[in-house]
Amino acid sequence: MKGIILAGGHGTRLSPLTKVTNKHLLPVYNKPMVYYPIELLIEAGIKDIIIVTGKEHAGNFLNLLGSGADFGAHFYYVLQDEAGGIAQAIGLAEGIISNESVLVILGDNIILDDISEYTKDFKSGATVFLKEVSDPNRFGVPVFDNSGKKILRIEEKPNKPQSEYAVTGLYLYDSTVFDKIKSLKPSERGELEVTDLNNLYLKDGKLNYVILKEPWLDAGTFESLYESSKIIKDRLIKS
Ligand code: DAU
Repeated sequence: MKGIILAGGHGTRLSPLTKVTNKHLLPVYNKPMVYYPIELLIEAGIKDIIIVTGKEHAGNFLNLLGSGADFGAHFYYVLQDEAGGIAQAIGLAEGIISNESVLVILGDNIILDDISEYTKDFKSGATVFLKEVSDPNRFGVPVFDNSGKKILRIEEKPNKPQSEYAVTGLYLYDSTVFDKIKSLKPSERGELEVTDLNNLYLKDGKLNYVILKEPWLDAGTFESLYESSKIIKDRLIKS
């Protein structure tokens, strides 16, 4: 299994912090943001990691991360010319991944659970990771059936969320992911949406979910970036 870290996009919600640098290079307490997903993947046993980013700041990623040797890993770099959506960015890794499963994480997500049991046992289909939140309208939101156990569909940033859960930016996919991405159409905002991709797995009856136990941080806004630094600092002091 290979890993993909998505570190493209414009980071407009963090402007002016992102005027001359990439969001994922900003500090979260004592490390650049992108270190957290890298460490998560390595702790889950994934050493081949593809980093997708835009042209503007790709050189900074090379300077910071290099070949991956400092992390005991191997990094591949892929350029996304335009921010065409999360699913488009995943699709760009196709040439590097052949007939194997892939763990995808959004570079602004900090996951504190140990996910190695899920990567180890993963065989086929897709797995999404959910977390209960107070503001689900900011995220992909699962709609459950009456039993509250089965996901019927996922809605992207709904005005009226049908559950209190967010689909976090961590996804496990089997090797059919690239064919599925090719069948996606751009959304109203002109992007290939990860939520549409996950709904394709759902339609085939092949989407599973896991509820994360530890705090989940999406460091993409001023408030969440600040909170992330505080939570990481508190955990370091306690450990
Ligand atoms: O954080 C979880 C949420 O992430 C999910 O609940 C949503 O379903 C999903 O759409 C996504 O929502 P965001 O609004 O947070 O996505 P954003 O556009 O901020 O992009 C998230 C990350 O993906 C960010 O770290 C940059 C990267 N990205 C994004 C786009 C659109 C790329 O690498 N390329 C892209 O084209």
